[in-house]
Amino acid sequence: MRKIIIAIDGYSSSGKSSFAKSIAKKYGYIFIDTGAMYRAVTFYAMQNGLIDSTGAVDTAELIKSLPQIKITFRYNPDIEASSIYLNGQKIDEQIREVTVSDNVYIISGIPEVREHLVALQREMGKEKGVVMDGRDIGTVVFPDAELKIFMTADPEIRAMRRYMELSQAGKKVSLEEITQNILKRDNADITRTVGPLKKAEDALSLDNSNLSVEQQMMWVSEKIDKLIK
Ligand code: C5P
Repeated sequence: MRKIIIAIDGYSSSGKSSFAKSIAKKYGYIFIDTGAMYRAVTFYAMQNGLIDSTGAVDTAELIKSLPQIKITFRYNPDIEASSIYLNGQKIDEQIREVTVSDNVYIISGIPEVREHLVALQREMGKEKGVVMDGRDIGTVVFPDAELKIFMTADPEIRAMRRYMELSQAGKKVSLEEITQNILKRDNADITRTVGPLKKAEDALSLDNSNLSVEQQMMWVSEKIDKLIK
């Protein structure tokens, strides 16, 4: 069977990762959550005093540190998905903290950080057989991906999903706080000059506001099956 690259881009909390994970599981593909990589660099910056509480970044120092920031994914049978490691430390939980979510759009707006992560993402996908989700996968990372999907969902629905996710993980945050964070990140993602969130011309749109994962899987499987046979 032919191996392909599946690029999934879209807004924050539009269900990209759950969708990408389900696709990867069904087809035995590798799932790469590129948002987690931007979050990992943000976490590194926070831990090393390279971003302060006002969001000011020591950009020169961060750029210098990039070669020392080793990001890897390793399959974790406990969660039936990959865990992310920063210099050998598993940071799945830490990168989902609200403080990281609040700062990630600042770090992801730095062109050198993007260049570094895009190169890493291309390396990870060079053998194909990957499902990669993010904001610029179909436009910048893999403009030749065989299947590109652009996901959207109503902002209230996205905020509620994120709220449920965090509540289930025992995190205390208000729906209002999450809504504001999502809108702020959307805006920063759309307006940044390098690698902005944009639908690739040849991407298929998927509004999943009222679709279950099963319905989305039916929709996408039909397309994948045609491409790989
Ligand atoms: O996907 P997730 O919401 O975890 O991504 C966190 C942040 O990382 C986004 O808000 C965006 O600023 C950044 N990001 C990006 N490019 C990607 C993936 C994520 O700029 N390919």
